[in-house]
Amino acid sequence: MTTVSKQREGNYARLMEPPRQELFNMIQGYKTTQALYVAAKLGVADHLVHGLMRAEDLAKEVGANSKALFRLMRHLAALGIFTQDKSTKFGLTPLGELLRTDNPESMRYSAIFSGEENYKAAGNLLHSVRTGETAFNHLYGKGHFDWMAENTDASSTFNKAMAQTLRRRGNPVESYDYSGRHLVVDIGGGRGDLIGSVLVSNPTMEGILFDLPQGSSEAQSHLKTKGVQDRCRIETGSFFDSVPAGGDVYVVSRILHDWSDDKATAILANIRKAIKEDGTLLIRDSVLSDNDVQGSTLDLTMLIMTGGQERTESEWRSLLQSAGFALTRVYKKEGQLDLVEAKPDKQPPHRR
Ligand SMILES: C[S@@+](CC[C@H](N)C(=O)[O-])C[C@H]1O[C@@H](n2cnc3c(N)ncnc32)[C@H](O)[C@@H]1O
Repeated sequence: MTTVSKQREGNYARLMEPPRQELFNMIQGYKTTQALYVAAKLGVADHLVHGLMRAEDLAKEVGANSKALFRLMRHLAALGIFTQDKSTKFGLTPLGELLRTDNPESMRYSAIFSGEENYKAAGNLLHSVRTGETAFNHLYGKGHFDWMAENTDASSTFNKAMAQTLRRRGNPVESYDYSGRHLVVDIGGGRGDLIGSVLVSNPTMEGILFDLPQGSSEAQSHLKTKGVQDRCRIETGSFFDSVPAGGDVYVVSRILHDWSDDKATAILANIRKAIKEDGTLLIRDSVLSDNDVQGSTLDLTMLIMTGGQERTESEWRSLLQSAGFALTRVYKKEGQLDLVEAKPDKQPPHRR
């Protein structure tokens, strides 16, 4: 063996451990999702608000087996979610604080949603990759939104999880310049977190929140909490049939990525019929770039949960064109979902 090849082999041997460890950690990731899910579901963090607790006392409060709960807490402490002192009492770290229900930045419902149907669907990713079919439909026999119409607890968890993942600072829909605009319509607006914030920041504007009955079931009380209930009408229906007409700005946040190109085009075509000719469409979704970990993870979620997909800028451009819109701008900000701005093309597609 030459000196150079010996050197190469030595380097390779040194490199072996970290890549193996890194891959091993990735392979083990399923347990982290479930450990966080169980802690969130049991509401452990809520019980640690008043100070350190032993696993046996915690177990009585949350209804768990004390030895098994101790083992869960020890693992989550090793991961930095909780603290563990010498007397084996557990407390909250900054990460654990985010599992508290009453933390304004809480991610508790996001952890719960990720550990339930989402997790089960991920267990059927192989089916999706082999067939191109949606794992959720394969497992539950119907689409995620149809299933949630019959499962109100899951629907409520989903709506809360959506609101919690929306609540990141500097949301580009909230900070958009609405000067000269009067009516904003939020299509698939859920609980109304987004339109509520837009109306709070723009006190002369009015809004319409449009969603399925189960999607908007908590909107009335939420808009009231934000103090904008008098300026925001709630309308229920399916965006595959029609959407409320006459808005200056239409917001579609995390909607189009739920659907295939054909279905997304149908939604956009209904918005095209309803929007004012000088109106603006704001799409809050990923604009996929190369090596995009956040976007490609979300893309897998769409593959298994709804049969939708994340899109690149050129895919957005042609999707919009097919429904009579022109892409005018893409806003990108680190750590945020992107914002695509579009305007109605001069001619709706059926007249071209
Ligand atoms: C991923 S959530 C996004 C919610 C919200 N826009 C956000 O960004 O947090 C998708 C929303 O689309 C709604 N939705 C699904 N199918 C719909 C349909 N056919 N018509 C109207 N809304 C629908 C759901 O109820 C849900 O609120």
